[in-house]
Amino acid sequence: MTHFRTRSSLSVMLLNWKILIIDASGQTANRLCDALFGFCASKTPNPFTVPLPSPSATAVTPPSMPTVRKTPFQVVHISDVHIDREYTVGSEADCTKNICCRDFADEAGEPVTDPALPFGNSKCDSPVSLADSMLEAVNSFDAQFVIFTGDVVEGAIWLTTQDEVTSDLIDFNAEMLSKITAPIFPAIGNQLVRSDSTPVNSFPRNTTDTTLDVQWVFDTQSAGWEHWIGNAASQQVDHISGSYAATVPGMNLVILSVNTQYWYRQNLWVYDSDIFQPDPNGIFSFMVEQLQAAENAGQKVWVIGHIPLGKADIIEDQSNYYDQILQRYKDIIVGQFFGHSHKDQFEIAYSDYSNQTAANAVGVGLICPALTPTSGNPAFKVYDVDPDTLGIMNIRVIFANMSDPSFQTDPTWTLYYDARETYGPLVGLPATSELTPAFWHNLTEVFAANDTAFQLFNTFLSRGGDVVPCDDTDNCKNMTICDQRAFRSQNNCDIDEGAFGMIRKRDVRGSQREASECEGIGIREIFDEIRNSRT
Ligand SMILES: *[C@@H]1O[C@H](CO)[C@@H](O)[C@H](O)[C@H]1NC(C)=O
Ligand SMILES: *[C@@H]1O[C@H](CO)[C@@H](O)[C@H](O)[C@H]1NC(C)=O
Ligand SMILES: *[C@@H]1O[C@H](CO)[C@@H](O)[C@H](O)[C@H]1NC(C)=O
Ligand SMILES: *[C@@H]1O[C@H](CO)[C@@H](O)[C@H](O)[C@H]1NC(C)=O
Ligand SMILES: *[C@@H]1O[C@H](CO)[C@@H](O)[C@H](O)[C@H]1NC(C)=O
Ligand SMILES: *[C@@H]1O[C@H](CO)[C@@H](O)[C@H](O)[C@H]1NC(C)=O
Repeated sequence: MTHFRTRSSLSVMLLNWKILIIDASGQTANRLCDALFGFCASKTPNPFTVPLPSPSATAVTPPSMPTVRKTPFQVVHISDVHIDREYTVGSEADCTKNICCRDFADEAGEPVTDPALPFGNSKCDSPVSLADSMLEAVNSFDAQFVIFTGDVVEGAIWLTTQDEVTSDLIDFNAEMLSKITAPIFPAIGNQLVRSDSTPVNSFPRNTTDTTLDVQWVFDTQSAGWEHWIGNAASQQVDHISGSYAATVPGMNLVILSVNTQYWYRQNLWVYDSDIFQPDPNGIFSFMVEQLQAAENAGQKVWVIGHIPLGKADIIEDQSNYYDQILQRYKDIIVGQFFGHSHKDQFEIAYSDYSNQTAANAVGVGLICPALTPTSGNPAFKVYDVDPDTLGIMNIRVIFANMSDPSFQTDPTWTLYYDARETYGPLVGLPATSELTPAFWHNLTEVFAANDTAFQLFNTFLSRGGDVVPCDDTDNCKNMTICDQRAFRSQNNCDIDEGAFGMIRKRDVRGSQREASECEGIGIREIFDEIRNSRT
């Protein structure tokens, strides 16, 4: 890929070596520039008002919080398994390739300095043995259902083929089905591959004129998920670009699973046209339709998706439009769950982002830590859910400690921390209260005032496995709290220096690096590949 500027146009040679001409002063060029160089344009979204039905006059006001709670039920959240099916025990973990812990012909006979062990290595994605071990642990929680917020395949983006990804998706669906008795509600992750003639395969919008087709991802998951989500939802996966809505059997709860890929800054195909496309592939209009149906039916909704909406790698425009939908349906959206960053995090939405108070907190995105050992100890979350409100009463993070000597023979999955026990007393949380958006806001106030509490959070990010100092020295703590209060990407404090900068401000001290830009295939990877192919 290369690009050049003329006075009035910016030409981008994209993917299948087709030259696309876009207006250098237009919104598309600004967004592309953001992705390449960091924030060129301001973080101000292009104005767009999502068409939203008004609340019906008869809509019931949300019931006040119950004073007596029924016994909660459990839901398990897993994410970012990143299984490498070619992981080879005894191979080199400390290699210079895009992916290690594999047998490479050109390394045969070389001494191994850091051998890949049976249940994983912190430099490599997950072996099948680790994923199986986690799925068995998940099943032991007797959850009513399980949510999985995506990323199945290992990070060897330049080595994977469509056939390999397809069989990896099929294999993991089969493994979840065989090991977990509860229904599973999955979301599409960043399943991207190279294809024969093109250097990279990402998710083109349905307006893109290309022979490249990712329908096979939706076909595969439509078939693989039908067992859990039912026929109607599996048809939606096929026809709504991987998104679906499914009612949880026996509950007044709809799982709305959204494919966040078309809002992803690193998806090159979103820069292929000057035409402003606020709702690529109609995912927002599908959300509104499903939320309205749930509101009419008196149902509650949990939204699940791969990329959290407040991250720098969600384009400000789509993040803002999603937030508009959230504001309209905040009374029925009682949970939002994501993965992608590999860290245990949360992001708060406000009715007024310039006045961030507990009273104005209207939603929270809960982010699940990853299984893959590359960003800390492997972990998942267990939620305690109130059967009446379907709100979250507690979160327990369950982890396997890789430093435990028995980890490589039989990983033990144990409680890492209990959010209610750890954080509740710090904010004076009453015994019958849920972990509401206001609770999370108050917790950020505690973090700002009490550094000991903030440092707990910082350690929890990576489950104690890959802890990076974060304090006031380079404004890291301030920016972290800012990000906790940013469910919209326009409000986060990330300083993205783009594909050429390759680092974010916070990386200066190595702190807070996230997996976000390292997985999936985007602009950075394409430049890497070009650089590698020239050397
Ligand atoms: C793209 O998807 C949207 C939403 O489903 C739909 O309205 C539109 O007709 C589609 N466009 C094409 C070219 O298929
Ligand atoms: C901020 O929000 C609070 C709570 O809703 C409200 O009482 C206060 O007046 C608001 N302040 C401003 C400056 O809008
Ligand atoms: C993991 O195990 C090591 C070795 O036993 C121990 O030092 C460490 O504290 C454990 N980590 C956590 C988070 O429990
Ligand atoms: C948050 O803090 C405010 C102000 O101290 C308090 O009025 C409110 O009850 C708290 N909310 C929760 C859920 O802890
Ligand atoms: C600050 O947080 C720590 C860790 O949770 C806690 O033990 C301590 O009591 C808190 N301090 C205050 C003043 O609340
Ligand atoms: C971060 O620092 C800025 C500038 O000093 C300050 O205005 C802001 O309140 C701080 N934010 C937090 C969350 O501490």
